[in-house]
Amino acid sequence: MLKGKKILLGITGSIAAYKAAYLVRYLVKEGAEVKVIMTASAKDFVSPLTLSTLSRNPVLTELFDEQSWSNHVMLGRWADVMLIAPLSCNTLAKMANGICDNLLLAVYLSATCPVAIAPAMDEDMWHHPATKENLAKLSSFGNEIIPVERGELASGLFGEGRMAEPETIIGFLKNNFFLTSPLKGKKAMVTAGPTYEPIDPVRYIGNHSSGKMGIAIAKELQRRGAAVSLVMGPSPVNVLSNGIEVTRVTTAEEMFTACNRLFASADIAVMAAAVADYTALEKAKEKIKKKDDKLTLELVRTKDILKSLGEKKKKEQVLVGFALETNNERENAMEKLKSKNADLIVLNSVKDEGAGFGHDTNKITIFGKGGSEFQFPLKSKNEVARDIVDTIIKLYYA
Ligand code: PMT
Repeated sequence: MLKGKKILLGITGSIAAYKAAYLVRYLVKEGAEVKVIMTASAKDFVSPLTLSTLSRNPVLTELFDEQSWSNHVMLGRWADVMLIAPLSCNTLAKMANGICDNLLLAVYLSATCPVAIAPAMDEDMWHHPATKENLAKLSSFGNEIIPVERGELASGLFGEGRMAEPETIIGFLKNNFFLTSPLKGKKAMVTAGPTYEPIDPVRYIGNHSSGKMGIAIAKELQRRGAAVSLVMGPSPVNVLSNGIEVTRVTTAEEMFTACNRLFASADIAVMAAAVADYTALEKAKEKIKKKDDKLTLELVRTKDILKSLGEKKKKEQVLVGFALETNNERENAMEKLKSKNADLIVLNSVKDEGAGFGHDTNKITIFGKGGSEFQFPLKSKNEVARDIVDTIIKLYYA
């Protein structure tokens, strides 16, 4: 899977830098072409000679010397992936703040390829709010974070902060960047986020959906080769993914129109949005003034988008709905599968801690038409998206 892939490995000053030698060796063994960039302090932990011998390429450390200048822009363009492992607390902070005082940082800031980072630091540094904030910033830039591991640390303490093992990092690269593309040539549409139903010019009926689940599914479908359109309700969460066509909508009616337009040419549709079931019968033209103790709003049903797509669905189209439940979860999910003519229903329950609205995690069960049922534990929404797309591929495109 890594044969011929170009990996740019950035190494920073951390005791875990010794593992970078194994990392380079394993990558080269898998057929990858590896170029190494080191910061000055990384050289205190592992020798450039070791890394250039293992990578079969000169190791780059300086932006320029007396004779030549390292073309940092072209390095970022050369690579299929830039991996920074180990990533020290110091370089993490610089990356989060756009500081550019060495070659590695210049390459990072100009890289057009995807970037993955494998942090390594002592437990207390790992748990510091500044570190968390810097990691969240990198994640919001679209960088992939390879989770740290628990174990013995350089300080002699035992805890979180160890860099992931080289084998784990290689598995992460394969899973995140070099999967085969079983959905190549397929078109997918995904809905995400809430809808807002206006009451007057300043108020609306909405819900707590952030759009994270739908965005993760859209990205995963794209990673597997599909051309993806995302219909996104009013969420402040950024999509940050090149190549996904995003249609922004506000109301259930607007989402209905966008979905019906896109569904005609879609092979796969995944409906993860939390669409309002009711909208105000009349939207007041001016702000409603408070007068009486009680205010009654007359609401009418919105169009059921999933149901309307289920009615139109052609044999070769795959339609996936969600069910967000608080009680009778299984029965309600099965009922939705049938009444909406969906192929799969993804059930999540707000009763499960860490599941549903807003969280970065979710816990799902997928119900299939033929009575199949797949249960998954609580996972990050990215991993949940992978499970959903894996299930679609296994059942319809294997
Ligand atoms: O956005 P996040 O913060 O990441 O949270 C994710 C989520 C909880 C919103 C998501 O995982 C989820 O459960 N989405 C569906 C929420 C929902 O509205 O569930 P429902 O059981 O009310 O609707 C069932 C299905 O019908 C859904 O696929 C929904 O998109 C669809 N629907 C609902 C109403 C409507 N008028 N038209 C629809 O198409």
